[in-house]
Amino acid sequence: KAEAILRELEDKCGAPTAKLQQVADAMTVEMHAGLASEGGSKLKMLISYVDNLPTGDETGLFYALDLGGTNFRVMRVQLGGKEGVIKQESEEVSIPPHLMVGSSHELFDFIATALAKFVATEGEEFHLPAGKQRELGFTFSFPIRQLSLASGTLIKWTKGFLIEDAVGEDVVEELTKAMERVNLDMRVAALVNDTVGTLAGGKYSNPDVIAAVILGTGSNAAYVERAHAIPKWQGLPPKTGEMVINMEWGNFRSSHLPLTEYDISLDAESLNPGEQLLCRRTCVRLLSFFFWLMEQIFEKLVSGMYLGEIVRRVLCRMAEEASFFGDIIPPKLKIPFILRTPDMSAMHHDSSSDLKVVGSKLKDILEVPNSSLKMRKMIIEICDIVTSRGARLAAAGVLGILKKIGRDTLKEGDNQKSVIALDGGLFEHYTEFRNCMSSTLKELLGEVAEYIVIELANDGSGIGAALLAASHSQYLEVQE
Ligand code: BG6
Ligand code: GLC
Repeated sequence: KAEAILRELEDKCGAPTAKLQQVADAMTVEMHAGLASEGGSKLKMLISYVDNLPTGDETGLFYALDLGGTNFRVMRVQLGGKEGVIKQESEEVSIPPHLMVGSSHELFDFIATALAKFVATEGEEFHLPAGKQRELGFTFSFPIRQLSLASGTLIKWTKGFLIEDAVGEDVVEELTKAMERVNLDMRVAALVNDTVGTLAGGKYSNPDVIAAVILGTGSNAAYVERAHAIPKWQGLPPKTGEMVINMEWGNFRSSHLPLTEYDISLDAESLNPGEQLLCRRTCVRLLSFFFWLMEQIFEKLVSGMYLGEIVRRVLCRMAEEASFFGDIIPPKLKIPFILRTPDMSAMHHDSSSDLKVVGSKLKDILEVPNSSLKMRKMIIEICDIVTSRGARLAAAGVLGILKKIGRDTLKEGDNQKSVIALDGGLFEHYTEFRNCMSSTLKELLGEVAEYIVIELANDGSGIGAALLAASHSQYLEVQE
């Protein structure tokens, strides 16, 4: 019976090339629709107000603050124009979980306090001319509706955050008020999504960067779009003729996505479920119907916050219906999110002959003291199926972007490389995921693959946000 559950999972998660091509095409179609009008698609295609990316001429001291990944980070950087980054320092602070679901006031106070402490440690090697106010690039990794680069209202929370009184509020205003409360004199010069920050940082170190993808706790992408391909853009055409778009691809949906009952129940029980229906949990098998009701579905198939949880759900069913762990169902297995993606990754990469890492994770996390080699092998297989589906879908998402901007085919005389800056803990640390994503891209792109480069842009978002703050500094015109 356990074997049958496993084979069913494999079958339902299957993402062969043809299906991925359909997913990529659907992504392109939704991109067009999202750019055409507000609400034209589940893909929000948010206008970032970043119409020129860093040139390399940026100078001065700037701060960056990064909220929305596993940790919250603060950073300062001294930019030296053509000399590049002269010095940078950063600090990571983990956000106490209760603040992720508390009040806006508490969260922003916590952030402003940590930032103020960090500013107080600024050494002499960082230089701010007398009389000038410190400026900040604020990376806020959630969907925000912007009307300028330095403001934006929160559309909704994603990942593990749920602070209702912040929804609809301008997060720059919230941060500014909190900074005033802790007597920190600092101006937010740029508000960016992490994908946009990563794109800016990536482009600074490599001019061939055309898009950025985050594969971490959550997943998303941003890319450079031609302004005339954005019908919903109401403003004056940007001087550069280009605009960075934050896709919020985590909310992409398509009937071509390979879904399972585990995904549906995960969505229903998550902090950000799709629409609720009374009979929903009893009818999870009616997939084609329910998937329209799900929220952030692409993210829930692809990103680090959810992969381990999907595996837990499969194991739960195997325990309940096939006595996979013997007569009793391990009580710990019933706890949502107890199996984290880093633990799943550690099991997946276990190369010992007796799979002892799997054995010890089962013991430490699920309190299953004894496990046979056969069980351990099956668990690795589950990890492999769930990871491959995520990585293959992420590759299809990248192909969708390349198709949209016409970089998926070779053109006469054009051999320019297209570089995609990639950041996030999942991509960085989960080797099987990373390898599977790269090989899938090759499979999908054929001979074009040679011209598409994926570049790890570790913490690119921090530098990117600081650079954007620099290029939108209040003192810029005075300097010119
Ligand atoms: C970081 C970026 O490197 O990666 C963040 O600077 C981003 O902005 C993060 O949110 C995603 O990583 P994770 O794995 O912590 O979600
Ligand atoms: C979530 C957020 C998005 C962010 C992504 C990666 O999908 O909604 O804004 O870019 O996570 O951190």
